[in-house]
Amino acid sequence: MNKAATDFHINKIAVIGLGLIGCSWVKGLRLRGCVQQVSGYDRNLDSMQLAQEHGIIDSYDKDIQQVVRDADLVVVSVPILAIDSVLESIAPAIGENTVLTDVGSVKGSVANSAAKIFGADFNRFVLGHPIAGSERSGVTAADEYLYLNHKVIITPENHTSPQALALVRNAWCVVGADVEYMTVEHHDEVLAATSHLPHLLAYSLTDTLANSHENKEIFNYAAGGFRDFTRIAASSPVMWRDIFSANKDQILKTLDLFQHDLKFLRQAIEEDDTTQVMGVLTRAKVARDHFSKILARRAYVEPMKATSITYRALPGKALSGSFRVPGDKSISHRSIMLGSLANGTTEVTGFLEGEDALATLQAFRDMGVVIEGPHRGRVTIHGVGLHGLQAPPNALYVGNSGTTIRLLSGLMAGQKFDVEMSGDESLSKRPMGRVANPLKAMGAVVETAENGRPPLVIKGSELSENGSSLKGIHYDLPMASAQVKSCVLLAGLYAEGETSVTEPAPTRDHTERMLKGFGYDVQVNGSTVSLKSGGELTATNIDVPSDISSAAFFMVAASIMPGSDITLEHVGINPTRIGVINILKAMGGNLEVLNEREVGGEPVADIRIQSAQLKGIHIPEDQVPLAIDEFPALFIAAACAEGETVLTGAEELRVKESDRIQAMVDGLVTLGVDAKGTEDGAIIQGFGSDGSFGDGEIVTHHDHRIAMSFAIASLRGSDAPINILDCANVATSFPNFVELANGAGMNLTVEEV
Ligand code: S3P
Repeated sequence: MNKAATDFHINKIAVIGLGLIGCSWVKGLRLRGCVQQVSGYDRNLDSMQLAQEHGIIDSYDKDIQQVVRDADLVVVSVPILAIDSVLESIAPAIGENTVLTDVGSVKGSVANSAAKIFGADFNRFVLGHPIAGSERSGVTAADEYLYLNHKVIITPENHTSPQALALVRNAWCVVGADVEYMTVEHHDEVLAATSHLPHLLAYSLTDTLANSHENKEIFNYAAGGFRDFTRIAASSPVMWRDIFSANKDQILKTLDLFQHDLKFLRQAIEEDDTTQVMGVLTRAKVARDHFSKILARRAYVEPMKATSITYRALPGKALSGSFRVPGDKSISHRSIMLGSLANGTTEVTGFLEGEDALATLQAFRDMGVVIEGPHRGRVTIHGVGLHGLQAPPNALYVGNSGTTIRLLSGLMAGQKFDVEMSGDESLSKRPMGRVANPLKAMGAVVETAENGRPPLVIKGSELSENGSSLKGIHYDLPMASAQVKSCVLLAGLYAEGETSVTEPAPTRDHTERMLKGFGYDVQVNGSTVSLKSGGELTATNIDVPSDISSAAFFMVAASIMPGSDITLEHVGINPTRIGVINILKAMGGNLEVLNEREVGGEPVADIRIQSAQLKGIHIPEDQVPLAIDEFPALFIAAACAEGETVLTGAEELRVKESDRIQAMVDGLVTLGVDAKGTEDGAIIQGFGSDGSFGDGEIVTHHDHRIAMSFAIASLRGSDAPINILDCANVATSFPNFVELANGAGMNLTVEEV
């Protein structure tokens, strides 16, 4: 029970209106021994007698003033439109210290009545609204547990006394309610949309259908849809008449918005515009499926953030089998971006249904693009053309995804509208100056939070006669980053003249390849990529290969676990991504690249990995950008190798989803490995063929790749488990990691806290 229950006590409560809501509250307070005496009033004598018989009230009186006299707390729980006259009648009998509260579904009208009757500065009326109810009503339906874990919204005003507020708050908390504060106006606006309008529609539709001459048919055959949609039209007409009247302004505002959208849907149906119809339906379905998360602007995949996930990892057996890891994250992001900006419909298969790519998908839906799916990796994007995006209704929430925020920044710089982009805690610490700086040089207005961190605000650029106010630039990348390169190139689609980027070392070139796949002219000259604005993207089909970054965990796992022999199918082997294969081979790994082929402009192969005793090496610096996301897994390989592994030139690892040098070194040390971090890399002494990892608890800093790396380390662990904390973000890139890993021979247990 709530802590307040033991020390919270009220001498006398007066309840005006003995219905379900007021009586349930009092019953809950009585059950917990928090109230000495309860007096009650109701228009109906029956109700007063019944409430007394049921022990809910101790006394009643036909004179309402007698009931409230000497009360410490007066609870007004009558229909909204009756509140005004009730307050008038009790006002003369309200004591100097009496606190008042109500339970009405509209707060503005109650606040007005209170101000009119008690004076604008009366500070002991605390407005409240419990979000709970029941199909049943009246004294006999009173339920002492009605408010357990239900929300109660309290709408304090500037002049509300803190003592009065605390009293009402505690009285709700002790019956188990979750109290939240809102302003009066916000409450009425939110409730108009979430409760009042749906009730209005349910009543109105039922009335329309009941008056139709075919009503008998309709009600005889009323199936799920009608029943579900109109269930709420069975509640109290008086209550709803009052609410519609008391919250008239807000309800009409929401109703107008709805009528506008309904007209749009009607027209789309009339004109057989199936894309627009699909747009409404897909947006609505996503919102309904994940509505609590979308409302909180958080995550799109179930496990994400809902709970804290720990992996308990024990040694498994030799890995075997042939399987496919999920789609490439980088290509999945870009397929949504370019598909949305293309003319025509793009079909994507093999799309990664992980949090990061879904964040990109949701961002484009928020900007008006109709996207069907994803369903089993299939996504259909109805492109709107390079200039067809619409201003999103809110800030775009991109979760953990650096790729989304950085690539989108480039695209957003070319739009006419302002956009704000924000992300989770980890993303909010990552540097965005690297994209803001070149965009500013192109003439974009970009605002960041302190030290160039998210949220980012990008101001709309007014179109000039010849395109956009952005100017093409040449940019020498200060670091080897595909995200920054892509950001500048994507802004270049909207910039006057030519935009070019030179990179200090080769980084993934998916943007360049995919732009070409969409028919856009991109010139690649050595380390310089350039494009001109004025072209257009033509829809195409994209088959996303498996992500080599996800495959990397199994490449290392099979290499370090004696007796393993696995084949990873359909893995993307773009030359800018194959550092992990090169490095493992240099360490003595047994990897074979089989069935090389090209799919939609990207090279793909099956990769067979057999276990091998690895040896320590100095990792060639030219391989670092080609394996940038695979180092967490490679650190595990290095720990199992014979001899020392040295990594240099990898300072970028410090600004990934976590500081990956620190996070990996700390974890390795926890497991007994001799490892130390350097400014731009690490030095790891491998334990070789006879050694193994110790047990311990790994801090992942919510970084998916740190979590998966230590999961594979367990193959060479001791008998005690490695406990890997905060693994929920594995869903950002590899939602089915645990199933695939266990299916191949690993021994991971997921614990949800
Ligand atoms: C990515 C580029 C890389 C990589 C990230 C995905 C991309 O980031 O680490 O996971 O899709 O362009 P940087 O550009 O910061 O190196």
